[in-house]
Formats: sequence, C-alpha cells, structure tokens
Amino acid sequence: MIAFDRLLRPHIAAAPAYRPVQPPERRARGAQPIIKLDANENPYGPPPGIADALARLPNAHRYPDPESRHLRAALAAHHNLPADNLLVGAGADELIDLIMRLFLAPGDVLLDCPPTFGMYAFDAGLHAARVVRVPRQPDFSLDLAAIERAVVRLRPKLLFLANPNNPDGGLIPPAHLERLLQLPLILVLDEAYIEFAPPGHSRLHQVLQRQNLIVLRTFSKWAGLAGLRVGWGVFPGWLMPHLWKAKQPYNVSVIAQQAARLALCRADWLAETRDKIVAERERLFARLDALPWLSPYPSAANFILCRVQESPRSTERLPPRSAAQLTRDLARQGILVRHFDKPGLADHIRISVGTPDHTARLLRAIQEWGKG
Ligand SMILES: Cc1ncc(COP(=O)(O)O)c(C=O)c1O
Repeated sequence: MIAFDRLLRPHIAAAPAYRPVQPPERRARGAQPIIKLDANENPYGPPPGIADALARLPNAHRYPDPESRHLRAALAAHHNLPADNLLVGAGADELIDLIMRLFLAPGDVLLDCPPTFGMYAFDAGLHAARVVRVPRQPDFSLDLAAIERAVVRLRPKLLFLANPNNPDGGLIPPAHLERLLQLPLILVLDEAYIEFAPPGHSRLHQVLQRQNLIVLRTFSKWAGLAGLRVGWGVFPGWLMPHLWKAKQPYNVSVIAQQAARLALCRADWLAETRDKIVAERERLFARLDALPWLSPYPSAANFILCRVQESPRSTERLPPRSAAQLTRDLARQGILVRHFDKPGLADHIRISVGTPDHTARLLRAIQEWGKG
C-alpha cells in the first residue's frame, strides 16, 4: 500500500485544522429559536428586496465577470476612489490569502499581533511562512516598540492589523498608525468592522498616497452578506497587475456581485441598521458592565469581548465558573457566543451585538447563570 499522504507538502500535512464557526443547526437544539452571536454577523441581514432580486437572476448559467467591473465601479463611486485600485474577493478572507500568495515565499516572515483575527497566522502557515508573534499589551493595544524591534531584526514582509481589532473591538490610535506606516513592510489594515466605529478612522483614501498600505473591507458585517462572501480591497497601483495575475479568475459569484451592488444602492437602509447595532452595542455594554463577575471591553465593532471572572460567587465556596462553562450553558439554551481558549484570552467570551430581542434573552440567561 503506497502512503500517498507522504506526497503532501510537509508543512500542510503538519498544520492543524482551522476551526471555523459551525452552522447553528449542527450546534444546538431546543424549543427556543437559536440566537447566533458567535460570528459577528449582522442580525438584520441585507436590505429588503435583495433576496427577491437574486431569485430573478437571469445569468447564473454564465461565469461571473472576472473583474467584478460593475461592482468595482459602484464601490468607486460610493467611496470616491478610482476603480483601478480596487479588487473584489470571495470575502476579505480570500484577499488575505491572495496578498500572502503575492508576497510570502516559504520562510518569509509575517508579523502577527495576537490576540487578533486568526486567519492571518493560519493562512501564513499554509504558505510555509514564518509567523513571528508580537503579542499585544494586556489592554490589547499594540506593542509598537516590540514591532519596531522585530522589523529591524527579522525584516518581515507583511504586517496584518485589524482596525477595529477582532476580538476586542479596539481601534489603533492615528499616531500609532502613522508610526507603523513608516516601517519597511507592507501594512495590511483590515477594516472589516470599520463601519461600526466612529467616523474618521478609516484609511481607505490614504492607500492612494502610500506605496505600502493596503486596506481591506467586507460586505459580511455591515451589509449583512456574510453568506454570499464578498470582500474588497484598495491597493497601491503598482500592486494591481500582480493581484490580477494571481487571483482565481471567477472568484466572486454572479449572485454575490449582484447582491453587493444592490446593497450599495441601499446605503441609507444599511446606515440605519448600522446605527441600530451601534446603539444596541452601547446598551449591551452598560448591562454587561453592571455584572460584578463580567468585565466587558469598550468596542468600536459589532461585538463585545468580556472577561469572565473565575467564580461569580467564589466567596460562597461554590464550584468555580469559567468562560467555557458559560459558553456551554448558554449554548444549551440556544444562545451561541464565542469562547476563546487562546493564551491571554482563556477566560474570555465574545458576544456579537444582536437585536434588542436577542439582548433581552441573552441578558436574562447571563443574569440567571450568575445567580447559579
Ligand atoms: C478582522 C476580520 N477580517 C476579516 C474577516 C473575514 O471577512 P469575510 O467574511 O469578508 O471573509 C473577519 C471575519 O470574522 C474578521 O473578523
């Protein structure tokens, strides 16, 4: 018997599997509808009318436009950017991988600043790159001096930073970004959640003035299209020909391109739902903050990270409580939140902001849990 698995590239064979969030029907059952607050999706979905329009799609038997021309033109008009600097992908995820495909040869260095979005380090591993971790400070801010030292020592090619960061929802102060932009590497700013942040934090337009800045965006969060997979990026002009060479030709489906275009036409509706989510985030934060055994972090995104104190009633000598236990107990009631078991985050959960009804059910369950 030939061991065909020995033909695999060794670093892929040795890589651990990525553990994505599972669809809810595979995760929890019960009389109450499931509340999915574990993947930072938009609880309101896309603007009304999009599903009907997609059902009448005339050209699904044809390959999609490989250059997503109509969508890029719509994005260019919406953001006042040249379409020539835009590229659309099957989610920001695809663009993260595409950027690495362009820059990372085996052994090349990528700087990762955990805790952050796990795909940066994971994808870099698939490219056999060397992932050098520069952990964030305890308050999740970046350790600028350590990043600068690592740049001098290791000459990394890429630095990915989510702004706001996932999982804490914090923003990078503008002065820190300015410092990072001076580094001799490509800085990829992942603005997947920027629509939920106060205005003025996006760097979308600065890409045109810089040679080493890429900004990524997605329709998954603010536009409620996570299931259709549409992300896009603004790239320096010199990089565009190389991106076009390396991307899969039909990477964004007909239906995804059309849905994203229609969503942009309903920017007013999306701004309203965004405002609802931001207001709900602040309400949820205040309610969580009032619980003595939970410490939520202020967030500029559509989720709230919370530290769960070991035991809400440790003085009463009751069994210790943990973030893992809370996550399991909530899931049993059909409320899905994200538990982290990574270093520095072991006692944390991340709750995506839902509708006011979601908040009400979540808070009832959490308060009951606190009482034991
Ligand atoms: C920081 C960050 N970037 C990118 C993504 C992926 O976005 P997309 O759905 O467009 O692939 C996520 C998804 O959770 C994220 O948290």
